[in-house]
Amino acid sequence: MMGAALGAAATTALPGAVAAAPRIPIGAACNHYVLGTDQAYRAALARHVDVIVPEGAMKWDYIRPKPDAFDFEPAAPTAAFARLNGLQLRGHTLVWCTPKPGWLNALGSEAETAREMERHIPRVMGHYRGQVRSWDVVNEPIAEKPTSDRDLRQGVWLRHLGDRYIDRAFRIAADVDPAGERVLNEYGVEATRPQDKIKRQGFLRLIRELKDRGVPLTAIGLQGHLHGDLVIDTDGVSRFCQEVARMGLDVLVTELDVIDDKLPGDIAERDRLVARRAEQFLGAVFAGARPKLVCTWGISDRYTWVPTWFKRADGQKNRSLPLDHDMNVKPFWHVLQRFCRGA
Ligand code: XIL
Repeated sequence: MMGAALGAAATTALPGAVAAAPRIPIGAACNHYVLGTDQAYRAALARHVDVIVPEGAMKWDYIRPKPDAFDFEPAAPTAAFARLNGLQLRGHTLVWCTPKPGWLNALGSEAETAREMERHIPRVMGHYRGQVRSWDVVNEPIAEKPTSDRDLRQGVWLRHLGDRYIDRAFRIAADVDPAGERVLNEYGVEATRPQDKIKRQGFLRLIRELKDRGVPLTAIGLQGHLHGDLVIDTDGVSRFCQEVARMGLDVLVTELDVIDDKLPGDIAERDRLVARRAEQFLGAVFAGARPKLVCTWGISDRYTWVPTWFKRADGQKNRSLPLDHDMNVKPFWHVLQRFCRGA
């Protein structure tokens, strides 16, 4: 009797079965300027997320302010914080077409540019060996507003190495850590605007060409800087994710937030709309492929990059992230919980 009851229980789907589905790690970008001084911020990260990624400290601006030196100090507290709190650390980003240090932009030849890439990637990945297994190897390869599906972003890498700079970066990264996760990361591909559609097509074409050439990327990242006032092309995003999965690649959501400059001022209403937009996007992604990570670009509205570009005209603070200014969870957080933790 007892055995029969147990047997039935083991084979019957329980209402809570979703909760038993494997959790998807939730991540957040970490602001190294405030990590050391803001205790509430540290506590929020440690409490809520599984993964952190430095918002800036692993970019060339910080690691390579000068051509001859590698500076790992800016990211050191973030790496230590991850270790102490049992959080995974992701790497962002090894190669980007809009690098800040002037010396990098001023490189004058193919040989010099290739040499820098070959020096930088192994040194940086080597520094974090054993702690960082997932890297955004190439960030934002597609032109900001492409006019065709072959329009790549201009910059020092493309200028001197041509479009194969992407292949080269992934091959170097794969040599350093064959077992690692290597991500091609992009934004602006999810709304119903024509510019998003063409960018999505360009991204897909690029991914397909890389796969055809045997380039060792393992995943693609959808940054997911959503606009609260722009509807998601849910079919387009789902199909995109499905195609990517069919090519044997994983999908990651790497920089999710909801830009709220055009949303109403009322806070409850705005928080609801922000959550709804995130939900619409994640629903579309999950319908195409189960992502390996859902990472937001910050954890709390206290620190978000959004006002740098998208300040509100009414002077109110942006509310783009899962926690509010005082580290209280918002509806956006519950959306993440539902998708990633079945809660
Ligand atoms: C942003 C940071 O959030 C800012 O603090 C910094 O000033 C500029 O970069 N896509 C990316 C991220 O891949 O690296 C960007 O981060 C946001 C857009």
